[in-house]
Amino acid sequence: TPEKELPRKGDVLVYADPAKNGAPVALADIQVGQVVYAFPKGRSLNGSDVVKNGVPRNQLIVAKFPADQLKAPTDVKATDQGIVVYSRQCMHLGCAVEIKPYPSKNLQEAAVCPCHGGVYDLAEGAKVVDGPPPAPLPQLPIKVQGSQVVVDGFFLSLPKDLTESEFEAQKK
Ligand code: FES
Repeated sequence: TPEKELPRKGDVLVYADPAKNGAPVALADIQVGQVVYAFPKGRSLNGSDVVKNGVPRNQLIVAKFPADQLKAPTDVKATDQGIVVYSRQCMHLGCAVEIKPYPSKNLQEAAVCPCHGGVYDLAEGAKVVDGPPPAPLPQLPIKVQGSQVVVDGFFLSLPKDLTESEFEAQKK
């Protein structure tokens, strides 16, 4: 179904919050210390315009950091104005991570998994800083176009529930 399609270059990020009715995420809402949850919206393979909210890996975290706080392995070429976007689906068993402070690693804004305590550092490429996840949250390249945040490529690492060959096909 179109809602389960993968994010594609040119998709616009829209609010995940149902109260916002699929509106594009406003730049003014993406501030340092203020995370937004989003989905990609764009043209599906059958030509319809669709919010791709049908699979957990398409739930996205949109965060912003001062440029000097973004560190490797974040791909800064895939960011714009300090905005980084990651899949919200935990790389352990796939629960949706929550954004909250994680004082024991001195993080104001970490992605914390409610299921088994996985913790990711969003300013450092969502690397795993605690718990069982085997890999970072996949980063989705974006750019700012006008007042919108637009997808600018495919996930930079293999998302959950996607095979290696499906992933390679997307990168082409
Ligand atoms: Fe996230 Fe297990 S599913 S830590």
